[in-house]
Amino acid sequence: MSKDNIINMKKINKYYDDFHVLKNIDFHVKKGEIVVVCGPSGSGKSTLIRCINGLEDIDAGEIIVDDINIHASKKNMQSIRGEVGMVFQHFNLFPHLTILENITIAQDLVKNVKKDEANKIAMELLKKVKLSEKANSYPSDLSGGQKQRVAIARSLAMKPKVILFDEPTSALDPETIGDVLSVMKDLAKENFTIVCVTHEMGFAKEVGDRIVFMDHGVIVEENSPKAFFENPQSKRAQNFLKEILTH
Ligand SMILES: Nc1ncnc2c1ncn2[C@@H]1O[C@H](COP(=O)(O)OP(=O)(O)OP(=O)(O)O)[C@@H](O)[C@H]1O
Ligand SMILES: [Mg+2]
Repeated sequence: MSKDNIINMKKINKYYDDFHVLKNIDFHVKKGEIVVVCGPSGSGKSTLIRCINGLEDIDAGEIIVDDINIHASKKNMQSIRGEVGMVFQHFNLFPHLTILENITIAQDLVKNVKKDEANKIAMELLKKVKLSEKANSYPSDLSGGQKQRVAIARSLAMKPKVILFDEPTSALDPETIGDVLSVMKDLAKENFTIVCVTHEMGFAKEVGDRIVFMDHGVIVEENSPKAFFENPQSKRAQNFLKEILTH
């Protein structure tokens, strides 16, 4: 285990009642690394990344993110929320708040940032995701791709060190996927640490440093994107790739 790791998950075991969803997982991510997690539905990908920011409890093992032992105390759990951002498949924006308010609300609640400063940060982030003109709109007036870019801006407002993405483009219309991936590629260049569950192979090949393939609650194989896609080692990975390539 290297000192350069920002995420250290050691021997993680998790159950949903009797169901063993994560089986003795070791998962480490270096600062600035872009890791893509893939695998069949139900393999435990969402559960794995939700453990990294404490959205899920674990039954055994240890998760240390930026020297914070997440599950050791409530206080640690709170501090991790400011360090690890998360972007979900279905955006999870607040429908009754404007785009600007969606981005400022957590700054106010979690970080006590003053309103003027929070607005300024939010406008800068909206510019970054190319949605400045939507500041006063409501989520229902935006396309899926636009909503997802707002969700990314909202997560960046907390100045996280790590950003977790859970299938950020899989609920989008094909024509809006490119804009979201383009924002994510920009982040990848900015030295954020990113863990992204996705089956977007183009994204994985272009910016991924490593692919982690999961099945039935275990990490079956991990490799560089090129090696994984061109020469998957396990039968399970070969079948999975065959499956996604034919869809
Ligand atoms: N809250 C829960 N209670 C009980 N079982 C759950 C819960 N959340 C997930 N599971 C089960 O755990 C397994 C792993 O779920 P998870 O959502 O992590 O898979 P996934 O790899 O992200 O799948 P998908 O590609 O469909 O998103 C699945 O069998 C799922 O039904
Ligand atoms: Mg999932």
